Amino acid sequence: MIAEAVYQDLKTKLADVVPEFELHYKAELAAEINQLKRERNAVILGHNYMEPALFHSIPDFTGDSLALSRQAAATDKDIIVFCGVEFMAETAKILNPNKTVLLPAEKAGCSLAASITAEDVRQLKAQFPGVPVVTYINTYADVKAESDVCCTSGNAVAVVESLKSDTVIFLPDEFLAGNVAKETGKHIIFPTKTPPVKFNGQMDYQMIGWHGRCEVHDKFNVPDIEAVRRQFPDVVIVAHPECSPEVVEASDFSGSTTAMIRFVEETSAPRYLLLTECAMGDNIAASNPDKEMLRLCSVRCPHMNQITLEETRDALKFTQYVIDVPEYIRVRALQAVERMLAIG
Ligand code: 13P
Ligand code: SF4
Repeated sequence: MIAEAVYQDLKTKLADVVPEFELHYKAELAAEINQLKRERNAVILGHNYMEPALFHSIPDFTGDSLALSRQAAATDKDIIVFCGVEFMAETAKILNPNKTVLLPAEKAGCSLAASITAEDVRQLKAQFPGVPVVTYINTYADVKAESDVCCTSGNAVAVVESLKSDTVIFLPDEFLAGNVAKETGKHIIFPTKTPPVKFNGQMDYQMIGWHGRCEVHDKFNVPDIEAVRRQFPDVVIVAHPECSPEVVEASDFSGSTTAMIRFVEETSAPRYLLLTECAMGDNIAASNPDKEMLRLCSVRCPHMNQITLEETRDALKFTQYVIDVPEYIRVRALQAVERMLAIG
Protein backbone atom coordinates (compact mmCIF):
# COMPACT_ATOMS: atom_id res chain seq x y z
CA MET A 1 0.00 0.00 0.00
CA ILE A 2 1.33 3.45 -0.82
CA ALA A 3 1.52 5.98 2.01
CA GLU A 4 -1.75 7.73 1.08
CA ALA A 5 -3.66 4.43 1.13
CA VAL A 6 -2.10 3.48 4.49
CA TYR A 7 -3.00 6.93 5.80
CA GLN A 8 -6.64 6.59 4.73
CA ASP A 9 -6.84 3.14 6.32
CA LEU A 10 -5.28 4.34 9.60
CA LYS A 11 -7.52 7.41 9.61
CA THR A 12 -10.63 5.24 9.38
CA LYS A 13 -9.49 3.17 12.34
CA LEU A 14 -7.57 5.61 14.52
CA ALA A 15 -8.91 9.13 13.92
CA ASP A 16 -10.20 9.24 17.52
CA VAL A 17 -6.99 7.87 19.02
CA VAL A 18 -4.03 9.35 17.08
CA PRO A 19 -3.73 13.01 15.94
CA GLU A 20 -3.85 13.52 12.16
CA PHE A 21 -0.31 14.90 11.70
CA GLU A 22 1.06 11.83 13.50
CA LEU A 23 -1.03 9.54 11.31
CA HIS A 24 0.54 11.13 8.20
CA TYR A 25 4.03 10.60 9.56
CA LYS A 26 3.32 7.02 10.66
CA ALA A 27 1.62 6.11 7.38
CA GLU A 28 4.81 7.12 5.49
CA LEU A 29 6.87 4.90 7.75
CA ALA A 30 4.42 1.99 7.50
CA ALA A 31 4.42 2.18 3.69
CA GLU A 32 8.23 2.07 3.69
CA ILE A 33 8.21 -0.93 6.05
CA ASN A 34 5.65 -2.82 3.95
CA GLN A 35 7.83 -2.25 0.87
CA LEU A 36 10.95 -3.51 2.71
CA LYS A 37 8.97 -6.48 3.98
CA ARG A 38 8.14 -7.54 0.40
CA GLU A 39 11.69 -6.97 -0.84
CA ARG A 40 13.19 -9.03 1.98
CA ASN A 41 10.54 -11.80 1.96
CA ALA A 42 9.77 -11.12 5.62
CA VAL A 43 6.78 -11.71 7.84
CA ILE A 44 5.92 -9.28 10.64
CA LEU A 45 4.30 -10.65 13.80
CA GLY A 46 2.73 -8.02 16.06
CA HIS A 47 1.78 -8.60 19.68
CA ASN A 48 -1.55 -7.17 20.86
CA TYR A 49 0.38 -4.60 22.96
CA MET A 50 1.88 -2.78 19.98
CA GLU A 51 0.99 0.90 19.71
CA PRO A 52 -2.11 1.50 17.57
CA ALA A 53 -0.54 2.87 14.37
CA LEU A 54 2.00 0.04 14.23
CA PHE A 55 -0.59 -2.58 15.23
CA HIS A 56 -2.98 -1.50 12.46
CA SER A 57 -0.51 -1.07 9.61
CA ILE A 58 2.45 -3.45 9.31
CA PRO A 59 1.88 -6.86 10.99
CA ASP A 60 0.88 -9.79 8.80
CA PHE A 61 -0.46 -11.40 11.96
CA THR A 62 -1.42 -9.94 15.32
CA GLY A 63 -2.29 -11.86 18.46
CA ASP A 64 -1.30 -13.13 21.87
CA SER A 65 1.85 -15.14 22.62
CA LEU A 66 0.18 -18.43 21.73
CA ALA A 67 -1.24 -17.31 18.39
CA LEU A 68 2.06 -15.68 17.40
CA SER A 69 4.04 -18.80 18.36
CA ARG A 70 1.76 -20.76 16.07
CA GLN A 71 2.29 -18.25 13.25
CA ALA A 72 6.05 -18.38 13.81
CA ALA A 73 5.92 -22.17 13.53
CA ALA A 74 3.95 -21.99 10.28
CA THR A 75 5.71 -19.27 8.29
CA ASP A 76 7.62 -19.97 5.06
CA LYS A 77 9.21 -16.48 4.89
CA ASP A 78 12.99 -16.01 5.13
CA ILE A 79 12.86 -13.38 7.88
CA ILE A 80 10.60 -13.10 10.92
CA VAL A 81 10.37 -9.62 12.43
CA PHE A 82 8.88 -9.92 15.88
CA CYS A 83 7.15 -6.77 17.09
CA GLY A 84 7.02 -7.93 20.69
CA VAL A 85 9.65 -8.65 23.32
CA GLU A 86 12.79 -10.76 23.37
CA PHE A 87 11.34 -13.98 24.78
CA MET A 88 8.76 -13.98 21.98
CA ALA A 89 11.40 -13.52 19.28
CA GLU A 90 13.49 -16.22 20.93
CA THR A 91 10.54 -18.60 20.78
CA ALA A 92 10.24 -17.88 17.05
CA LYS A 93 13.96 -18.69 16.66
CA ILE A 94 13.59 -21.90 18.68
CA LEU A 95 10.95 -22.96 16.15
CA ASN A 96 12.86 -21.68 13.08
CA PRO A 97 16.60 -22.29 13.46
CA ASN A 98 17.25 -21.68 9.75
CA LYS A 99 15.40 -18.39 9.48
CA THR A 100 16.59 -14.93 10.44
CA VAL A 101 14.59 -13.67 13.43
CA LEU A 102 14.76 -9.95 14.17
CA LEU A 103 13.67 -8.03 17.25
CA PRO A 104 13.36 -4.32 16.40
CA ALA A 105 14.98 -3.16 19.66
CA GLU A 106 18.35 -4.00 21.09
CA LYS A 107 16.86 -4.89 24.45
CA ALA A 108 13.13 -5.40 24.91
CA GLY A 109 13.03 -7.61 27.98
CA CYS A 110 10.32 -8.67 30.42
CA SER A 111 10.33 -8.62 34.23
CA LEU A 112 8.93 -12.17 34.30
CA ALA A 113 11.62 -13.55 31.98
CA ALA A 114 14.26 -11.78 34.09
CA SER A 115 12.91 -13.29 37.32
CA ILE A 116 14.33 -16.78 36.91
CA THR A 117 17.50 -18.48 35.66
CA ALA A 118 18.16 -21.96 34.32
CA GLU A 119 20.11 -22.65 37.53
CA ASP A 120 17.04 -21.73 39.61
CA VAL A 121 15.04 -24.35 37.67
CA ARG A 122 17.76 -26.98 38.12
CA GLN A 123 17.70 -26.35 41.88
CA LEU A 124 13.92 -26.68 42.02
CA LYS A 125 14.10 -29.94 40.06
CA ALA A 126 16.68 -31.23 42.55
CA GLN A 127 14.43 -30.18 45.45
CA PHE A 128 11.30 -31.77 43.91
CA PRO A 129 12.60 -34.72 41.89
CA GLY A 130 10.29 -36.19 39.27
CA VAL A 131 7.78 -33.32 39.45
CA PRO A 132 7.02 -32.02 35.92
CA VAL A 133 8.04 -28.44 35.16
CA VAL A 134 5.63 -26.11 33.35
CA THR A 135 7.27 -22.89 32.22
CA TYR A 136 5.43 -19.79 31.12
CA ILE A 137 6.46 -18.67 27.65
CA ASN A 138 7.63 -15.39 29.26
CA THR A 139 11.05 -16.96 29.98
CA TYR A 140 14.36 -17.15 28.13
CA ALA A 141 15.42 -20.16 26.08
CA ASP A 142 17.78 -21.65 28.70
CA VAL A 143 14.91 -21.74 31.22
CA LYS A 144 12.59 -23.35 28.65
CA ALA A 145 15.34 -25.91 28.02
CA GLU A 146 15.08 -27.05 31.66
CA SER A 147 11.30 -27.49 31.39
CA ASP A 148 8.99 -30.30 30.38
CA VAL A 149 6.41 -28.10 28.70
CA CYS A 150 5.74 -24.42 28.10
CA CYS A 151 2.43 -22.62 28.44
CA THR A 152 0.99 -19.21 27.69
CA SER A 153 -1.78 -17.29 29.43
CA GLY A 154 -4.07 -18.73 26.74
CA ASN A 155 -3.51 -22.40 27.56
CA ALA A 156 -1.96 -22.57 31.06
CA VAL A 157 -4.89 -24.47 32.60
CA ALA A 158 -5.06 -26.91 29.66
CA VAL A 159 -1.30 -27.54 29.86
CA VAL A 160 -1.37 -28.21 33.62
CA GLU A 161 -4.38 -30.51 33.24
CA SER A 162 -2.78 -32.35 30.32
CA LEU A 163 0.06 -33.52 32.56
CA LYS A 164 -2.28 -35.69 34.64
CA SER A 165 0.19 -35.23 37.50
CA ASP A 166 -0.79 -34.69 41.14
CA THR A 167 1.96 -32.10 41.48
CA VAL A 168 3.51 -29.61 39.04
CA ILE A 169 6.21 -26.98 39.24
CA PHE A 170 4.81 -23.82 37.58
CA LEU A 171 7.29 -21.05 36.77
CA PRO A 172 7.95 -18.16 37.09
CA ASP A 173 4.78 -16.01 37.41
CA GLU A 174 3.53 -16.07 40.98
CA PHE A 175 0.15 -14.58 40.02
CA LEU A 176 -0.51 -16.68 36.92
CA ALA A 177 0.40 -19.74 39.01
CA GLY A 178 -2.04 -18.60 41.72
CA ASN A 179 -4.79 -18.11 39.16
CA VAL A 180 -4.14 -21.50 37.53
CA ALA A 181 -4.02 -23.18 40.96
CA LYS A 182 -7.41 -21.68 41.75
CA GLU A 183 -8.92 -22.83 38.46
CA THR A 184 -7.52 -26.35 38.69
CA GLY A 185 -8.28 -26.69 42.40
CA LYS A 186 -4.62 -27.15 43.32
CA HIS A 187 -3.01 -25.96 46.55
CA ILE A 188 0.09 -23.91 45.75
CA ILE A 189 3.26 -23.23 47.73
CA PHE A 190 6.17 -20.88 47.05
CA PRO A 191 9.41 -22.44 48.31
CA THR A 192 11.18 -19.08 48.08
CA LYS A 193 8.70 -17.54 50.51
CA THR A 194 8.06 -20.37 52.93
CA PRO A 195 10.65 -22.33 54.96
CA PRO A 196 12.52 -24.90 52.79
CA VAL A 197 10.16 -27.71 51.77
CA LYS A 198 11.35 -31.29 51.61
CA PHE A 199 9.79 -33.52 48.96
CA ASN A 200 8.83 -36.75 50.71
CA GLY A 201 5.82 -37.94 48.75
CA GLN A 202 3.53 -36.76 51.59
CA MET A 203 2.81 -33.31 50.26
CA ASP A 204 -0.24 -31.21 51.11
CA TYR A 205 0.37 -29.08 48.01
CA GLN A 206 0.00 -29.79 44.31
CA MET A 207 1.68 -26.78 42.74
CA ILE A 208 5.09 -25.26 43.33
CA GLY A 209 5.43 -21.66 42.24
CA TRP A 210 8.12 -19.00 41.91
CA HIS A 211 8.23 -15.31 42.85
CA GLY A 212 8.27 -13.70 39.37
CA ARG A 213 5.86 -10.86 38.65
CA CYS A 214 4.94 -8.78 35.65
CA GLU A 215 5.90 -5.22 36.53
CA VAL A 216 2.75 -3.95 34.75
CA HIS A 217 0.05 -6.31 36.03
CA ASP A 218 1.51 -6.22 39.54
CA LYS A 219 0.39 -2.57 39.79
CA PHE A 220 -3.34 -3.21 39.47
CA ASN A 221 -5.13 -3.56 42.79
CA VAL A 222 -8.56 -4.15 44.31
CA PRO A 223 -9.05 -0.64 45.80
CA ASP A 224 -8.56 0.86 42.31
CA ILE A 225 -11.12 -1.57 40.89
CA GLU A 226 -13.58 -0.61 43.64
CA ALA A 227 -13.00 3.09 42.93
CA VAL A 228 -13.70 2.60 39.21
CA ARG A 229 -16.85 0.60 39.98
CA ARG A 230 -18.07 3.40 42.28
CA GLN A 231 -17.50 5.98 39.53
CA PHE A 232 -18.89 3.82 36.68
CA PRO A 233 -21.36 1.28 38.13
CA ASP A 234 -21.97 -0.25 34.67
CA VAL A 235 -18.27 -0.89 33.93
CA VAL A 236 -17.16 -4.41 33.01
CA ILE A 237 -13.64 -5.19 34.22
CA VAL A 238 -11.37 -7.41 32.15
CA ALA A 239 -8.07 -8.55 33.68
CA HIS A 240 -5.05 -10.41 32.32
CA PRO A 241 -4.18 -13.51 34.43
CA GLU A 242 -0.77 -11.97 35.24
CA CYS A 243 -2.80 -9.82 37.68
CA SER A 244 -3.01 -11.07 41.27
CA PRO A 245 -5.69 -13.67 42.10
CA GLU A 246 -7.43 -10.98 44.21
CA VAL A 247 -7.61 -8.62 41.23
CA VAL A 248 -8.82 -11.42 38.94
CA GLU A 249 -11.45 -12.34 41.54
CA ALA A 250 -12.65 -8.72 41.69
CA SER A 251 -12.88 -8.55 37.86
CA ASP A 252 -15.62 -9.81 35.54
CA PHE A 253 -13.43 -11.73 33.09
CA SER A 254 -9.84 -12.88 32.83
CA GLY A 255 -7.97 -14.32 29.86
CA SER A 256 -5.03 -13.94 27.49
CA THR A 257 -4.74 -10.68 25.58
CA THR A 258 -6.59 -12.23 22.63
CA ALA A 259 -9.26 -13.67 24.94
CA MET A 260 -9.69 -10.18 26.45
CA ILE A 261 -10.14 -8.68 22.98
CA ARG A 262 -12.70 -11.35 22.03
CA PHE A 263 -14.58 -10.86 25.29
CA VAL A 264 -15.02 -7.14 24.57
CA GLU A 265 -16.05 -7.86 20.98
CA GLU A 266 -18.57 -10.51 21.96
CA THR A 267 -20.24 -8.75 24.91
CA SER A 268 -22.24 -5.56 24.88
CA ALA A 269 -21.42 -3.47 27.94
CA PRO A 270 -21.27 0.30 27.39
CA ARG A 271 -17.81 0.55 28.93
CA TYR A 272 -14.91 -1.68 29.90
CA LEU A 273 -11.85 -1.29 32.09
CA LEU A 274 -8.87 -3.23 30.79
CA LEU A 275 -6.30 -4.29 33.36
CA THR A 276 -3.34 -4.75 31.03
CA GLU A 277 -0.90 -2.70 28.91
CA CYS A 278 -2.81 0.41 27.90
CA ALA A 279 -1.97 0.32 24.16
CA MET A 280 -4.29 -2.66 23.88
CA GLY A 281 -7.16 -0.42 24.98
CA ASP A 282 -6.43 1.89 22.04
CA ASN A 283 -6.36 -1.08 19.68
CA ILE A 284 -9.69 -2.41 20.95
CA ALA A 285 -11.24 1.09 20.89
CA ALA A 286 -10.22 1.41 17.23
CA SER A 287 -12.05 -1.80 16.29
CA ASN A 288 -15.05 -1.23 18.59
CA PRO A 289 -16.00 2.45 18.27
CA ASP A 290 -19.36 1.84 19.97
CA LYS A 291 -17.67 0.74 23.21
CA GLU A 292 -15.89 2.96 25.71
CA MET A 293 -12.51 1.74 26.93
CA LEU A 294 -11.28 2.97 30.30
CA ARG A 295 -7.52 2.65 30.42
CA LEU A 296 -4.99 3.00 33.20
CA CYS A 297 -2.21 4.41 31.06
CA SER A 298 0.10 5.42 33.89
CA VAL A 299 1.00 1.73 33.95
CA ARG A 300 2.98 0.86 30.81
CA CYS A 301 5.22 -1.98 29.70
CA PRO A 302 8.58 -0.25 29.08
CA HIS A 303 9.77 -3.27 27.08
CA MET A 304 6.89 -3.55 24.61
CA ASN A 305 7.01 0.21 24.16
CA GLN A 306 10.55 0.02 22.78
CA ILE A 307 9.15 -1.40 19.55
CA THR A 308 8.35 1.49 17.24
CA LEU A 309 7.75 1.92 13.51
CA GLU A 310 11.17 3.59 13.21
CA GLU A 311 12.91 0.66 14.89
CA THR A 312 10.96 -1.84 12.77
CA ARG A 313 12.01 -0.04 9.58
CA ASP A 314 15.63 -0.12 10.72
CA ALA A 315 15.33 -3.80 11.64
CA LEU A 316 14.45 -4.62 8.03
CA LYS A 317 16.90 -2.12 6.54
CA PHE A 318 19.94 -3.14 8.58
CA THR A 319 19.00 -6.73 9.58
CA GLN A 320 18.93 -5.92 13.29
CA TYR A 321 18.72 -7.11 16.03
CA VAL A 322 19.40 -10.73 15.18
CA ILE A 323 18.12 -13.26 17.72
CA ASP A 324 20.26 -16.34 18.20
CA VAL A 325 19.86 -19.31 20.51
CA PRO A 326 22.77 -21.73 21.04
CA GLU A 327 21.87 -25.04 19.40
CA TYR A 328 22.34 -27.18 22.55
CA ILE A 329 19.80 -24.97 24.35
CA ARG A 330 17.47 -24.61 21.36
CA VAL A 331 16.91 -28.35 20.85
CA ARG A 332 15.91 -28.84 24.47
CA ALA A 333 13.74 -25.71 24.56
CA LEU A 334 12.08 -26.83 21.32
CA GLN A 335 10.75 -29.97 23.00
CA ALA A 336 8.98 -27.89 25.66
CA VAL A 337 7.55 -25.46 23.08
CA GLU A 338 6.42 -28.24 20.71
CA ARG A 339 4.74 -30.13 23.55
CA MET A 340 2.78 -26.96 24.29
CA LEU A 341 1.80 -26.41 20.66
CA ALA A 342 0.56 -30.00 20.44
CA ILE A 343 -1.92 -29.30 23.27
CA GLY A 344 -5.05 -27.92 21.55
P1 13P B 1 -0.49 -12.89 26.14
O1 13P B 1 0.11 -14.19 25.79
O2 13P B 1 -1.81 -13.00 26.84
O3 13P B 1 -0.57 -12.02 24.92
O4 13P B 1 0.45 -12.17 27.22
C1 13P B 1 1.76 -11.82 26.98
C2 13P B 1 2.25 -10.86 27.95
O5 13P B 1 3.44 -10.61 28.05
C3 13P B 1 1.29 -10.20 28.80
O6 13P B 1 1.90 -9.28 29.61
FE1 SF4 C 1 6.64 -8.87 30.47
FE2 SF4 C 1 4.69 -7.65 31.78
FE3 SF4 C 1 5.77 -6.45 29.68
FE4 SF4 C 1 4.20 -8.63 29.35
S1 SF4 C 1 3.58 -6.61 30.14
S2 SF4 C 1 6.17 -8.24 28.38
S3 SF4 C 1 4.75 -9.81 31.18
S4 SF4 C 1 6.81 -6.95 31.62
